[in-house]
Amino acid sequence: MENTFGNCADGKSASLFTIRNARGMEARISDFGGVLVSLFVPDREGKLRDVVMGFDALAGYEHNPTYCGALVGRNANRIRGARFALDGKEYRLSQNEGANNLHSGPDGYEKRLWSAEQIAENSLKLTLFSPDGDQGFPGSLIVCVTYTVTEDDALSIVYGGMADCRTVMNLTNHAYFKLGGQDSSTVLDDELMIRADAITAVDETLCPTGKLMDVSGTPFDFRQRKRIGRDIDSDHAQLRFGKGYDHNFILRHQAGEPDVEAYSPASGIRMRLYTDLPGVQLYTGNFLDVSVKTKGGRAEQLRGAMCLETQFYPDAVNHPEFLSSVIEAGRYTEHFARFAFSV
Ligand code: GLA
Repeated sequence: MENTFGNCADGKSASLFTIRNARGMEARISDFGGVLVSLFVPDREGKLRDVVMGFDALAGYEHNPTYCGALVGRNANRIRGARFALDGKEYRLSQNEGANNLHSGPDGYEKRLWSAEQIAENSLKLTLFSPDGDQGFPGSLIVCVTYTVTEDDALSIVYGGMADCRTVMNLTNHAYFKLGGQDSSTVLDDELMIRADAITAVDETLCPTGKLMDVSGTPFDFRQRKRIGRDIDSDHAQLRFGKGYDHNFILRHQAGEPDVEAYSPASGIRMRLYTDLPGVQLYTGNFLDVSVKTKGGRAEQLRGAMCLETQFYPDAVNHPEFLSSVIEAGRYTEHFARFAFSV
């Protein structure tokens, strides 16, 4: 189902698509920024709750400094010094977070109008052409992201793309989950398990130092499910840098097992995340702008929602020892993230 979502600043009209499965689970996604505006999943009483933070109107997404719900590209997360070398050439990006580049700069894919095609009642395909030199990256890239609400209550996101030369492609979705529903205050009482033995340690700019940090005995050990709030304010340098969790976890990828599992005792909603990407950024909304009203005019609190951004490690393009975020010329490359819900 397609409804109008409003007119963009440049006059083009944006749509809001609804995709749903036969059981009632429903996602609302705009072709503006490919943003996931709402995600309705059944709670323990069978009532649908909207489990992502978002805005009622398009304007909220046009001014979206926290990347709420957005498709982030070409490169999610940080690139140190906003520069990198590829095949002997140096490329410069915009410095939009201190000297670094965050989420590809001010002209991110979350500000573009994508081409949308609802390919089934439960599936939406979004396509974007990103020309050579876009945001400073080499090569033309065609990006194709497909959102599907599956019959077993999962939101599947498939990120595909092909470029005409070697270039960076590291796409993610920046949904802020509120598994307790819109009225939940913070995520601190939600429980989280992350199948990761290490994180990429960061410096005070939240850019990886290149060192991996073993999570054992640290607040970053989520291998046994624990309350997000349990250790979030511990005295640990990594937590000080992020004012809480804002770190890339190195996923162990155990066959058949979710990479992440989150649970809200308030709603009974459980979310299991599966991905083929090597990392996930856990961001607990430590820098949310709480003066910005979200859906229904509500005021959020710091740590009112959490992001689980599947990705290549931050700044991978400058770290040959990290798995590469570079795709080959003329070769279609695809990754997935699957958010499976149950009670
Ligand atoms: C990412 C970053 C955070 C923050 C948010 C957007 O998750 O890691 O530091 O910038 O995006 O607000």
